[in-house]
Amino acid sequence: MSFDTTLVNRRLHRFDGHDRIWLFGYGSLIFKADFAYLDCRPATASGWVRRFWQGSHDHRGTVVQPGRVLTLVGEPDARCCGMAYLITPAVFDHLDLREKNGYLRQVIEIDLHGGMTVPALTYVAAPDNAAYLGAAPEADIATQIATAHGPSGSNRDYVYALAAALRSLGAHDAHVFAIEQHLHALECAQPPSPFF
Ligand code: SIN
Repeated sequence: MSFDTTLVNRRLHRFDGHDRIWLFGYGSLIFKADFAYLDCRPATASGWVRRFWQGSHDHRGTVVQPGRVLTLVGEPDARCCGMAYLITPAVFDHLDLREKNGYLRQVIEIDLHGGMTVPALTYVAAPDNAAYLGAAPEADIATQIATAHGPSGSNRDYVYALAAALRSLGAHDAHVFAIEQHLHALECAQPPSPFF
């Protein structure tokens, strides 16, 4: 089964007339900016929440044992704090590959902290994509994340890195912090290694 959305994304948003665009990152794009950018600012997307509802077969899990990563879900009155990067269209060659597992580019409005409201491209994994896992109790999400690993590292480290990045932005995210706490509890509950 193919989850790859790279070609679909390349047909979306041709950036006509734009030589620079804001990108809104709300997940790994906050703590792992492995691309060139011209500017970078904390930003907020109103009407959205981040949720660990997207399956990861390519970064933080495998096809056999998928991990869970974030997507954006519309929710009136909600606010999602993330990071905005000012980039050139060429950077999407890399981003479309990185976010290929079910994410589609979408334009939303974001508030740059300390300034303007601007349109920004963001990657959203909608419920109709093949890798979508959907809602589950946060404890169950943490149990799945606790044992998932993929080419980009452990799924647990994705949560820990994100939670640390959100704290350094001064952002509170009840969903992320609850899953982080469940993960810590699962680690503490592990039996001690027989070698020590
Ligand atoms: C994002 O970070 O904005 C998209 C989801 C991810 O790659 O973790």
